[in-house]
Amino acid sequence: MERDKLLMTPGPTMIPPKVLQAMSRQIIHHRTKEFQAIFTEFNTKLKTVFDTKNDVLTFASSGTGAMEASVANLFSPGDKVLVGTIGVFGDRYVKIAKAYGLDVDVISMPWGQALDPEDIKKHLEEDVDNKIKAVIVTHNETSTGVTNDLEAIGQVLKGRPQLLVVDAISSLGGIPLKTDEWGIDVVVTGSQKALMVPPGLSFASLSDRAWDAVKQSKLPKFYFDFLAYREKLNDNDTPYTPAVTLIIGTNVALDMILDDGLDKVYARNRRLAEATRAAAKAMGLELFAEPTHASDIITSIKGPEGIDVEKVRKIMNTKYDIMITGGQGKLKGQILRIGHVGYVDQFDLLKTLTGLEYSLAEVGYPVQIGSGVTAAEKILKEGV
Ligand SMILES: Cc1ncc(COP(=O)(O)O)c(C=O)c1O
Repeated sequence: MERDKLLMTPGPTMIPPKVLQAMSRQIIHHRTKEFQAIFTEFNTKLKTVFDTKNDVLTFASSGTGAMEASVANLFSPGDKVLVGTIGVFGDRYVKIAKAYGLDVDVISMPWGQALDPEDIKKHLEEDVDNKIKAVIVTHNETSTGVTNDLEAIGQVLKGRPQLLVVDAISSLGGIPLKTDEWGIDVVVTGSQKALMVPPGLSFASLSDRAWDAVKQSKLPKFYFDFLAYREKLNDNDTPYTPAVTLIIGTNVALDMILDDGLDKVYARNRRLAEATRAAAKAMGLELFAEPTHASDIITSIKGPEGIDVEKVRKIMNTKYDIMITGGQGKLKGQILRIGHVGYVDQFDLLKTLTGLEYSLAEVGYPVQIGSGVTAAEKILKEGV
């Protein structure tokens, strides 16, 4: 029987029917009062989810577009930045900064571990002339399932001249991120993960300090020129044709998130993550991320010795219509990653865990069917 595939990936995530319905209406023109009214509401809600008083800019691109835009808008050729990387997406920021001719210092950790805020502190203290203009980090490293302690990193930057720039593409709206309270100058994210909207929108919030840097920046930019977006935003308008349909969808999704309440959403994701971790252990599997920084957005599981995890994923996908992800970059073929963020509930997770048990058994892994699900249920029955 044909049915929708259950996406238990870290993005794109499943779209709530209400959001799909809102996006299936006839297109409206963006230079109208009707669109402006939606755009005004949407911008107010975005600020709430970003937990900021700052404006949030919206672009028609995937998240990487906003990452690139943050570099192009904040810096000038040859500026020095410090990137903290713990996986594929931290490495991407290094590549973008280098592509724009920046002088990039890198702090990295073995994959599976989080950044140590003390390392950042030490690095900045050694930079006695404050040559470093910004510290760039990933909040939730999706490729490894590790969440950096952003609050602690924010503390390190407190009172220092460097900007704090954060890739929150897989975290914003899914786990706590207090933009203003934690002193984050730039937060970038995308539509297709915790925000429960199809891919295609990216967002960036900027502090007053960041706007000062934007005014000094000499790197070339055009479509992503932040100042052009801010100027139009003052009139609830956009410099170019916005992705009207996605904005309409996001406006509905943001209502769903805010009606639920951010704290409830965060608690649900935490519970789903705890259940996933307990299930994996009960199945005799080993978790990949260091336990103190394991992500509540995505759980990474080591492939058991002698088991082809890509085959496991294939069975889940083709036989049970459940899609999870595998390893990226050097982790390809070595780990499985289960996303539990956005429009997912406990039953989606239990179905996924059942599918995982069946698929592992099919490739010869000695799993006791029901062991993972039982462990997860113990945690989930308290309600998510
Ligand atoms: C942490 C993180 N950064 C960046 C990206 C890239 O975003 P996009 O694929 O939307 O360009 C992703 C996507 O998975 C991500 O999880």
